[in-house]
Amino acid sequence: MEKQVIRGYSKIKTKSYKKSNKTLKTPKIITLNTKNIKHKMKIILLGSPGVGKGTYASFIKEKYKLPHISTGDLFREAMKNGTPLGKKAKEYIDRGDLVPDDLTVQILKERISKPDCENGFMLDGFPRTIPQAEALDKITKIELAINFFASEKIILQRLGGRRICKKCGAIFHLVNKKPKKEGVCDICGGELYQRSDEMPEIIKERLKTYHEKTKPLEDYYKKKGILRGIMVDADINAPNFKEAILDKIDEAIESVKK
Ligand code: AP5
Repeated sequence: MEKQVIRGYSKIKTKSYKKSNKTLKTPKIITLNTKNIKHKMKIILLGSPGVGKGTYASFIKEKYKLPHISTGDLFREAMKNGTPLGKKAKEYIDRGDLVPDDLTVQILKERISKPDCENGFMLDGFPRTIPQAEALDKITKIELAINFFASEKIILQRLGGRRICKKCGAIFHLVNKKPKKEGVCDICGGELYQRSDEMPEIIKERLKTYHEKTKPLEDYYKKKGILRGIMVDADINAPNFKEAILDKIDEAIESVKK
């Protein structure tokens, strides 16, 4: 395991990493970076639907133990439970539109006031509009915005084949990340399902909404000096993919630290 991590790093290391690697005999760098993020780091993950935010969030969560808060997951949970909020959200989600800002800010605010968020969190899919970003600024201070990006062709392929576990939320793909047994989660044995907003015409709408309403957030966080971009065209099955992504995330974190 340790060997794998080291191999992953050496394949993608940058010049500055090479320098520090000369004295590195054990995979200490992993521990060091984990320590760095532990202290109240508040991160947001930006990027188009299907770029892989949920997938990379699971990598970050596993390594840094930061709570992963996805407003999409919160809405899907409310829809599953048939709550008034879930019923309202469903109207918008099923046509590829955004849920109104007031409802979204409310659900987010409630979630991040829970004790597990005291030492930081990672937001996936929030904010998605400028008014949401402004509302978030009033609630807390975000230290880093990571913008994941990939070509539209790749994004469409990723969205079409995605399958999610009903029980634990793990993400699979019919081509890129096949479950060992068709329709069954490798992790918990739960049933896999396709999201209701995953039909081709709804996917088109979601991408249109993203370009109109969410993309302007890149400038919003750029102006604050906390935006970092990570290109994720590489396939998830490429050797050391996870380590390479985590390495880029480490770089992003280091770059905003005071
Ligand atoms: P939400 O659930 O947030 O959906 P989204 O942003 O559209 O993002 P996705 O979950 O579709 O994609 P992802 O980037 O997480 O990709 P994933 O890792 O799954 O929101 C759903 C809806 O809720 C919205 O449309 C809106 O209506 C509403 N909503 C949510 N938040 C809101 C807000 N703040 N305001 C208003 N409304 C809101 O990956 C996709 C697939 O690709 C997977 O199968 C994965 O295995 C595969 N994959 C990922 N990376 C790779 C790779 N590198 N190589 C190969 N395959 C890959």
